[in-house]
Amino acid sequence: MKVAVQWAQPVLRDRLACWLHRPERNWTATVAPRLVARATATDDTRWRTETVAFTSTSVAVATVRGRGADGRYVVKVPWTDQAVDGLRRQAEVLDVLRTNPRLPGLRQLLPYCAAQGEIEGRYYCVEEALRGAPANGMMLRRTRRAALLASASRVIRNLHLPTRERTMLDRAALAEWVDAPLRRLEEFVATHPRPGRLLDTVWRLREELVVALVGRTVHTSWIHGDFWPGNLLATSPAGQVTGIVDWDRAAPRQLPLHDLLHLHVLARRLARGDELGEIVVHALRHGLDRTLDVPAGEAADWLDGIPPRPALLLYWMRHILLFIDSEGDHDDPRWIRGNVERVLVNI
Ligand SMILES: Nc1ncnc2c1ncn2[C@@H]1O[C@H](COP(=O)(O)OP(=O)(O)O)[C@@H](O)[C@H]1O
Ligand SMILES: [Mg+2]
Repeated sequence: MKVAVQWAQPVLRDRLACWLHRPERNWTATVAPRLVARATATDDTRWRTETVAFTSTSVAVATVRGRGADGRYVVKVPWTDQAVDGLRRQAEVLDVLRTNPRLPGLRQLLPYCAAQGEIEGRYYCVEEALRGAPANGMMLRRTRRAALLASASRVIRNLHLPTRERTMLDRAALAEWVDAPLRRLEEFVATHPRPGRLLDTVWRLREELVVALVGRTVHTSWIHGDFWPGNLLATSPAGQVTGIVDWDRAAPRQLPLHDLLHLHVLARRLARGDELGEIVVHALRHGLDRTLDVPAGEAADWLDGIPPRPALLLYWMRHILLFIDSEGDHDDPRWIRGNVERVLVNI
């Protein structure tokens, strides 16, 4: 869900979270075999917990393996209200996508929620484990990264293309993509010690985006909404995507460019350590293809006729807004400097 704040993440951050959340992890490790047994109508003794991670969005994720050929499950227990909402929303989204007859190519990559409910007053869900290893660990080697990015760009088309529709962007359509995020950004910037210049930029941005986008006809579709390598599972070393997790930010009638930009921006972030705001500024100055190391034609395809500057700004706004409104690091001064101010003073 939420993207790493510092370069050393997600590895260091996850380690710290694990260390800090021992009681939650222990409790989850104890109940997880029972929950899998209940979901599969089998006996508790057939299941054992292998690992429990505590994620940056406060979910304890236990991997449970069966003895013999019983398979593998993932039990998720959220520990904050926002994490509960996220998992419930993901279950709803997965239901909608699984039952959509236009998405057969996607189904095998989606988590399957075998059961959800409450145990000792706490929400949980049991998912069948998808094959593959987390893809964020595959970003450091160039060839592996390229293979993973090509596979990920290909598989997400199985969501974008079958659900796409032509949409005329009128002033009302931009309320969601431009006005609402900019209002929220304005509130956020107003709390800055010297908000004047930043506020001017936010207002100028509104005008610019309205002029660039109103009257344009674009394709919209369902998007994943947090399509970064940390939410992909893939074969190693071949880098073929075997699963896509974390669907609570998915939404219909959005621009597919959000998923494709996020995938490539975060790949650069994981490989080189740059802040997202720095990458956006670099792309505004030097072009998407040079910044994200993709052929110019491929980058142009992502944008579907929208000029690169408004496309990048829409992407940036959506991303930072999701982050500002999530729990955790949004008040981290380093994050604000690198992602909000860095862009506002350079556009
Ligand atoms: N169904 C699944 N099968 C295999 N691994 C999974 C599954 N769901 C989650 N994971 C692993 O657990 C990690 C955390 O799960 P995720 O849903 O992304 O939580 P968060 O919202 O906290 O990022 C994922 O990055 C992935 O490696
Ligand atoms: Mg995730």
